[in-house]
Amino acid sequence: MKENMCLQSYHDLIAGIVAAMEARDLYTADHSQRVAAMSETVGRLLHLKPEQQTTLHISAHLHDIGKLGIDDAVLRKTGPLNDKEWADICRHPVIGWEILRKVDSFAEIAVIVRHHHERWDGGGYPDGIAGERIPLAARIIAVADSIDAMLSRRSYRTGMPISKCLGEIERNTGTMYDPEIVRVVLSHWGEIVVPVEKLNTHTAGERTAQ
Ligand SMILES: [Fe+2]
Ligand SMILES: [Fe+2]
Repeated sequence: MKENMCLQSYHDLIAGIVAAMEARDLYTADHSQRVAAMSETVGRLLHLKPEQQTTLHISAHLHDIGKLGIDDAVLRKTGPLNDKEWADICRHPVIGWEILRKVDSFAEIAVIVRHHHERWDGGGYPDGIAGERIPLAARIIAVADSIDAMLSRRSYRTGMPISKCLGEIERNTGTMYDPEIVRVVLSHWGEIVVPVEKLNTHTAGERTAQ
């Protein structure tokens, strides 16, 4: 019981810090919370052990923490980014890893955060590692992160219709995403994505209007 309370406080503290970070950018509000909720459901469907589930969930909340180190002018820019600005944004997984690895108990989470933009075919960043060399939790977060990014309204575009998003995930299986994770996501799409849609009440209406 005491341990559960401790875990809950630890979780809430992290979610609170991330919410403060996301307040910098209107368009990413609640992004990490939705990615954490989707990742948790996928982890459960993949029958991860309880301690793996906890690590996955906390890592998903923290996946973009490295954006703390990115300039407001780049992070809050409306309109397309130039090459230099993209290169800046792409530093966030390594910045997140640098922040988290300083705490011993976050060592595993730091590695997951570092690799959340790797691709199954090795074409991602920062290290270009492929397949099962990418930590499983990072492969799960990559899919959940893409789904939320596609469905969310950003300063420079409206959210994508949900059926088109599903098609994009399917199209990129085996290249961007782990095929086994995509198989689970597509076969439980309603369970994974719809409850998360409800969390995002302020944009849900706009999404269904697409
Ligand atoms: Fe990210
Ligand atoms: Fe993200």
